[in-house]
Amino acid sequence: MTRLVIRGGTVLDQSGERRADVAVEDGRVTEVGSSLSGDQTLDAGGCIVAPGLVDLHVHLREPGREDAETIETGSRAAALGGFTAIVAMPNTEPAQDSLAVIEFVRAQAKRAGLCDVHPAGCITMNREGKALAPFGELAAAGVHLFTDDGNGVQDPQLMRHALEYARVLDITLAQHCEVTALTKGAVMHEGSCCSHLGLPGWPAIAEELMVHRDIELSRLTGARVHLLHLSTARSVELVRTAKADGLAVSAEATPHHFTLTDELLAGYDAVYKVNPPLRTAADLAAIKAGLADGTIDAIATDHAPHSPESKEAPLDQAPPGMLGLETALALAIGELDMPLADIVAALSWKPAAIARIGDLHGRPVAAGEPANLVVFDPSATWTVVPAKLASKSRNTPYAGRAMRGQVRHTLLGGDPVVIDGTAQR
Ligand code: DOR
Repeated sequence: MTRLVIRGGTVLDQSGERRADVAVEDGRVTEVGSSLSGDQTLDAGGCIVAPGLVDLHVHLREPGREDAETIETGSRAAALGGFTAIVAMPNTEPAQDSLAVIEFVRAQAKRAGLCDVHPAGCITMNREGKALAPFGELAAAGVHLFTDDGNGVQDPQLMRHALEYARVLDITLAQHCEVTALTKGAVMHEGSCCSHLGLPGWPAIAEELMVHRDIELSRLTGARVHLLHLSTARSVELVRTAKADGLAVSAEATPHHFTLTDELLAGYDAVYKVNPPLRTAADLAAIKAGLADGTIDAIATDHAPHSPESKEAPLDQAPPGMLGLETALALAIGELDMPLADIVAALSWKPAAIARIGDLHGRPVAAGEPANLVVFDPSATWTVVPAKLASKSRNTPYAGRAMRGQVRHTLLGGDPVVIDGTAQR
């Protein structure tokens, strides 16, 4: 049995920070201490050794849009970004509303062997908002998170029924908060910038109404609701109040919503088109404050690969979405005014708990625990070069941007799938 030692780093987990080497054998951490030796050594000098990152919101595009991403290329991007587990969104073609599609995604991910992939189930069949998906069957097969992401469930009666089932089945429903009657034809945030550019607007209230509705439905049914990619100041405030009321509500925010604003659309470049849209500087500040005080539990990327051809279409026809997996950690380190431990919490053990995979991911770095780990240098600097990304698509809004914080190694079940910033398969 090979003994691998991660040497010379600072361990950071739920119990704080300490200088220590970490020994890994047969998929588990077997020793944390000083001057450890082994058959293989990974240098962690100047680095943080932490539980692997967990992303609640990734579009892998397979099955259906393998021109933009595959489970293998998306898993590689995840591993390079420091993620050991990701939740795969169900807006595939066909959608993840049956056991057959869920099992297909799991099998492809296992074959790639780069990252644990947990496919989310749909709330409604084909994400059409009409008939509920077979929750019972999917829950029995280990699906814990259900969402129609890309679409919000518009019908409040259907959402209420979905939550009543969810409570009984002990599953979580994740909502894409968008009242579509208010966003028809919308291209960007509704505000002074969009009027100036003459583009149809996506008003903040379209998100906030559904955030409010689902908080109240969670209060009524007692079911867990996770609110996807919050983008407005008022949404953050609504979640803050819901948490103060003790409701079973959690929330996430994306790196793009805490780093970019609507003014970037001034050049009509579709790389900045995303759903929900980039908002104002005041909204961005509220998202940051929500992350800092824990109102927003998790940083999730909404990694949304799109082919170059589709993103080159005129702004009103181009699909919304941006890449996120390979830049998330650096953006969090560089842009959030938060202690590193809180950043890692929002990227690791807090999302692991929401995804209900906290038995394997986001674990303390301690003897006996599964060796799902990330080793990153918080002060290393690098520049985003789209052609060098592992994702099959190139739609990053951060091309040419200087970053601080770089993943050095990622271990999945003890297997070093990334060594010195290079994927091993
Ligand atoms: O920008 C987005 N892109 N938002 C979504 O909700 C869906 C996603 C996609 O699938 O491209």
